[in-house]
Amino acid sequence: MDTIATPIFDLTRIRRDFPILATKVHGKPLTFLDSGASAQKPRAVIEAMTRSMETAYANVHRGAYHLSETATESYEAARVATQRFLGAAEAEEIVFTSNSTAAINLVAHSYGRGVMQPGQFVLTSEMEHHANLVPWQMLRDANIGIGLRYVRVTERGEIDLNDLAAKLADGKVGLVAITHMSNVLGTVTPAAQIARMTHEAGAKVLFDGSQAAVHRHVDVTAIDADFYVFTAHKLYGPTGIGVLYGKRKLLDAMPPFLGGGDMIESVTLERTTYAAAPARFEAGTPPIIEAVGLHAAIDYVTNIGMPAIEAHERALVDHAMAVLPQVEGLRIIGGAQDRGGVFAFSLDGVHPHDLSTFLDRHGIAVRAGRHCAEPLHTRFGVEGGTTRASFGLYTTPGEIDLLAQKITEARRFFA
Ligand SMILES: Cc1ncc(COP(=O)(O)O)c(C=O)c1O
Repeated sequence: MDTIATPIFDLTRIRRDFPILATKVHGKPLTFLDSGASAQKPRAVIEAMTRSMETAYANVHRGAYHLSETATESYEAARVATQRFLGAAEAEEIVFTSNSTAAINLVAHSYGRGVMQPGQFVLTSEMEHHANLVPWQMLRDANIGIGLRYVRVTERGEIDLNDLAAKLADGKVGLVAITHMSNVLGTVTPAAQIARMTHEAGAKVLFDGSQAAVHRHVDVTAIDADFYVFTAHKLYGPTGIGVLYGKRKLLDAMPPFLGGGDMIESVTLERTTYAAAPARFEAGTPPIIEAVGLHAAIDYVTNIGMPAIEAHERALVDHAMAVLPQVEGLRIIGGAQDRGGVFAFSLDGVHPHDLSTFLDRHGIAVRAGRHCAEPLHTRFGVEGGTTRASFGLYTTPGEIDLLAQKITEARRFFA
């Protein structure tokens, strides 16, 4: 396997940071090509979380004693790190949730039911992960007068901007909710342009950055996003914590979603008044250790540098585009100009589950199925699903070569 230094950064050194990459699967070295589902964790994240539990753990925002104050400081420091990572103006614009799905559901419930008006529409796209689709269908089906529209996806797998303009034209859209990077096609959407078009139509925009925040430097202020969500476990951090960025004035206008401890200002038996954002949206004990892990993950990628990570990934994408189409019978879904390291493909005569099982025997982990994006698979006529290879910052060109070689062997085997 090729683990030599690339011109961008020292892959051999980076890979040593991830203990799991040294493990074997079925006696073969692990080739982990499923980072789009969940990325592996560097030692810095694992150790920061362990250290926090061993030396500085207590519940946050509650106890007036040393450990609780230390834990609270760590939790709030993670918020500041996230604010900087996203280029947000204020730490109070960062709400911690349990994942991206919870963050989008929060907006659907709170902004959708509490701020949007009957007669308005949510505009999402055919390209979405179910996390950015089902909550909007649920909002539509709540019978409170909110409708739902979908922007078409072109044959190349890009957002059809003419269709976006057409669907914004009547001024009835209140919220546009679109992915910043597709978890199937790898397409990176033109977020700043989408935000501009949305704002000109008088609407607000939410970006699902679950994939994009891992692969690109994101600046919510430069994009002018109203809401932006991502999930730590894809960013080399732990499961159990996600992020909702919301512009301060929008969060301030939104009613709470979940009620309980920590989100109140005062409670009597008659009534409750609520804390300001972000506490208003963080009911109950928050993901304390996970916030420490997220902070460590942000520090880890920031130290490598998001531009370097992006450049490495561009090199991997170019390599994959040179190698994968050479495999006979392989069809890559989509082909966007601007794309990240996610490739979904079908292989003539071989079911995705059979292919992934074959690859697993060779230590290669890929995902088979519809990747929580069933409408997109229908759109591209691959209802039966696809196989998906997705890259992380530790992925090597040699791993892509191995994938291509083993897919070729699989085709022969199943023929
Ligand atoms: C584009 C996209 N959106 C949302 C999600 C949901 O993330 P989570 O399961 O962490 O909420 C995913 C995860 O696969 C994703 O790829």
